[in-house]
Amino acid sequence: MCGIVGYIGSQPSAPILLDGLRRLEYRGYDSAGLAVQVPGAGIEIRRAVGKLRNLESALRERPLDGSVGIGHTRWATHGRPSEVNAHPHVAGPIALVHNGIIENHLELRRRLEGRGCAIASDTDTELVAHLIQLEVAQGKSLEDAVRGALAELQGAYAIAVLSEKEPERIVVAKHSSPLVVGLGEGESFCASDIPALLPYTRDMIFLEDGEVAVLERDRIRISKLDGTAVERAPRRIDWSPVMAEKAGYKHFMLKEIFEQPRAMEDTLRGRLDREARDIHGHEIGLSDDDARTVRRVVLLACGTSHHAAMTGRYHIEALARVPTVVELASEFRGRDGVVGEGDLVIAVSQSGETLDTLVAAKEAKAKGAKVLAIANVIGSAIPRMSDAVFYTHAGPEIGVASTKCFTTQLANILMFAIWLGRRRDTLSADRAGALVEALARLPHTMQDVLTGTRQLVANLARRYVDARDVLYLGRGLSFPIALEGALKLKEISYVHAEGYAAGEMKHGPIALIDSHVPVICLVPRDSHYDRSLSNLQEAKAREARVISVATEGDEAARTFSDDLIEVPDVPEELTPLLTVLPLQLYAYYVADYKGTDVDQPRNLAKTVTVE
Ligand code: F6R
Repeated sequence: MCGIVGYIGSQPSAPILLDGLRRLEYRGYDSAGLAVQVPGAGIEIRRAVGKLRNLESALRERPLDGSVGIGHTRWATHGRPSEVNAHPHVAGPIALVHNGIIENHLELRRRLEGRGCAIASDTDTELVAHLIQLEVAQGKSLEDAVRGALAELQGAYAIAVLSEKEPERIVVAKHSSPLVVGLGEGESFCASDIPALLPYTRDMIFLEDGEVAVLERDRIRISKLDGTAVERAPRRIDWSPVMAEKAGYKHFMLKEIFEQPRAMEDTLRGRLDREARDIHGHEIGLSDDDARTVRRVVLLACGTSHHAAMTGRYHIEALARVPTVVELASEFRGRDGVVGEGDLVIAVSQSGETLDTLVAAKEAKAKGAKVLAIANVIGSAIPRMSDAVFYTHAGPEIGVASTKCFTTQLANILMFAIWLGRRRDTLSADRAGALVEALARLPHTMQDVLTGTRQLVANLARRYVDARDVLYLGRGLSFPIALEGALKLKEISYVHAEGYAAGEMKHGPIALIDSHVPVICLVPRDSHYDRSLSNLQEAKAREARVISVATEGDEAARTFSDDLIEVPDVPEELTPLLTVLPLQLYAYYVADYKGTDVDQPRNLAKTVTVE
């Protein structure tokens, strides 16, 4: 986690670095800092604990002038949040920012202390600054010193380094943590993620593991750790800077919830073949032969992406008749599970950088499985290591709680299942055609649900804002949505919430129900409807406050519920794409009424690049 940013050009660097950090703050926000080459004064740093605004005040009191600098926003791993542990870290003429974890930090610390280095912080990062400084002290250039130091590191890093001895360059490097460099007119940039650079340049190069780049005003030179030069043309990123702004909404999360119809339109564009009643497969990157020969699908993901992946099991088994399992990437990796040739692994990840998903997918690939990535961030690590990529086109997601990326993942997974089913002749053209038509209408249907339920959901959130526990129940495709509704509430409002498969209630969790517990029941008219309705009645009989999410006009659900949220009637496969919307809104409004930090909830970070 953590966000890093760097600038070298002719403009004052501090405002550009701060702006970049603001756009990266979702990656971590317990302290922040800048280091700037101040002409005539060497490198100066400013650091502050807490949100970025504290650093901004520190800079107002003591501004930093200079057009070369690096910045950092931190999510603590080694050492509690404090000014001394905040980045940049300094050793002699070196200042450094780092995202990642150095695994051999204990041994390095012992060694550096043995050589007389005075280490001020508890961080692993400061050790890297000292390693580089020792190399520079032997007369090496900054670039060579960085190479020398990197040879001693185990673990994950993206670093940006300044040296007082070479004030006209920034040296950056990466291994297992993301880093993108940007090319401007007479200026160069680096950052952990695309949105930080969008207002300044759209021409970006994604660094690969084991690469070092030297940023100067008018050129960027990339090489491998062994010094071999790397030629890579920049990619033009078509995300616009306004996509990463709040656009008048109180929070990014609310904006991203309401952006879902647009995100869905972008994700579906060019993929629905209405004439052939099929999905255009060219972007999936697998051949028809791959589709016919796949023996098993293994979906790997974490968190919200795991909930999206769970729907893949239902779709792929039902529509394509391929045995499918879903694994938490963090549990799959290192387990030496049975996976190999003939298996198609689908790694689902918004950021494309989640370490557990990345490592799990790499392990499966090493054993002979083919890997398909479903990711949102173009050029991120998981797509890069995969055999094929099927991108969601949700645009940058800034709110830590994932919303629009979740629904676009659901759509991609469903489209994939339809494509697979058509190629395997397990899905009729009629059925596929009905799904394709419903998908084509989906952006409008989502818009109707968002505008139609917003006020009701806000009122319900106000009524139940003080509930200490909330249960979410669903069967079939609604089970992952129950889990997702509960996760959204937990992560941004800090209310204890649990999602259960509705049929499991009577095996234990029903004991939790009493008149103080709101129970949110997902009961769309699908193949589980009758049993779901029975579960709803069981909850009601235990005096629960039942809020149902049901198909429009469902009088039975209305009778047994205290409150009813209605969604339009769509084919069963699409119901998750609608029923999750009021659950996102519910979590948002509860959190907003409670006054929590919706976009940056405590203890969380958007991209989880640690174990
Ligand atoms: C919750 C949330 C997380 C992520 C998880 C995986 O709202 O966003 O649970 O889904 O950290 O992240 P990605 O999808 O980037 O792999």
